[in-house]
Amino acid sequence: MSDQLQGRTAVVTGGASGIGAALCAELASRGMAVVVADIDGAGARRVAAELDGPALGVPTDVTDPESAEALARAAYAEFGSVELLCNNAGVLLFGTIADSSVGDWRWLSSVNVEGLLNCLHAFLPRMRGQGGWRHVMNTASTHAFLPDPGFTALYSATKNAIVALSLGLRTELEPDGIGVTVLCPGQVDTRILDSQRNRPGTFGRRAAEPFGTGPVPMAIEPGQVAREAVEGVLRGAPLVFALPSHGRDLFHSQVRELWQLAGDALQRDAPH
Ligand SMILES: NC(=O)c1ccc[n+]([C@@H]2O[C@H](COP(=O)([O-])OP(=O)(O)OC[C@H]3O[C@@H](n4cnc5c(N)ncnc54)[C@H](O)[C@@H]3O)[C@@H](O)[C@H]2O)c1
Repeated sequence: MSDQLQGRTAVVTGGASGIGAALCAELASRGMAVVVADIDGAGARRVAAELDGPALGVPTDVTDPESAEALARAAYAEFGSVELLCNNAGVLLFGTIADSSVGDWRWLSSVNVEGLLNCLHAFLPRMRGQGGWRHVMNTASTHAFLPDPGFTALYSATKNAIVALSLGLRTELEPDGIGVTVLCPGQVDTRILDSQRNRPGTFGRRAAEPFGTGPVPMAIEPGQVAREAVEGVLRGAPLVFALPSHGRDLFHSQVRELWQLAGDALQRDAPH
């Protein structure tokens, strides 16, 4: 199945760290040329240099449409085509809605949602002009489904938006033969708790992280997420969940709770 990937090109945003870096390694090991894009430009170049195969590191701020456009220009200039676009760059902020600032929301949504849109706007016209197998993978989160009470509602709102955008995009791109997958990881051992390391000063104060900025507790390895993600892309899955086994039951019950709320409301409002 990996023949589909051999000799083709992937672009991975947020590729300098965590899940993005693992995706780059997984895709390179399957024979793809990889464009590593990240606001951490030195990190992007380092990851690209360490990959086994053709690779390019491109400093990119996905919140800036011109930077996303420059990334697309660089990718096509270097490799001629892009078959897989992984919109993976993302940031996390814990805390209550009441304690949050508008700057918190603008930063989260500008990276997680607008950043994804900027990359779609830069890449889709070019990808549509190509033939053959093409795919977009967007990284959301299990937090898209039900936020932890009091702590992740802002982040969850952006990830919920990614699920909605991805499902819409899947329908929209079907006539072009471009597939769409939304990746929903659970807890993964990355630098996500230290997301504010890349928060520009223009978004205002840095709220203290209530759970610290160290390793993610009870997490799975990014490599496992990358393998499951790429397998999902290859089978054209609409959704891929990559979860630690101990979190599976909890997540399942959260999804059931969500549908229970919808089911109850529908039943209550049904005409008698
Ligand atoms: N780690 C988890 O537990 C977890 C769970 C579910 C979903 N996710 C999602 O996975 C994705 C990757 O996060 P991660 O866990 O690997 O975290 P990470 O912090 O290790 O990596 C995120 C990368 O995104 C980059 N980035 C931040 N702002 C950017 C910008 N404006 N432009 C370009 N790049 C930017 C960072 O520099 C970093 O290299 C994110 O979308 C995140 O929300 C993570």
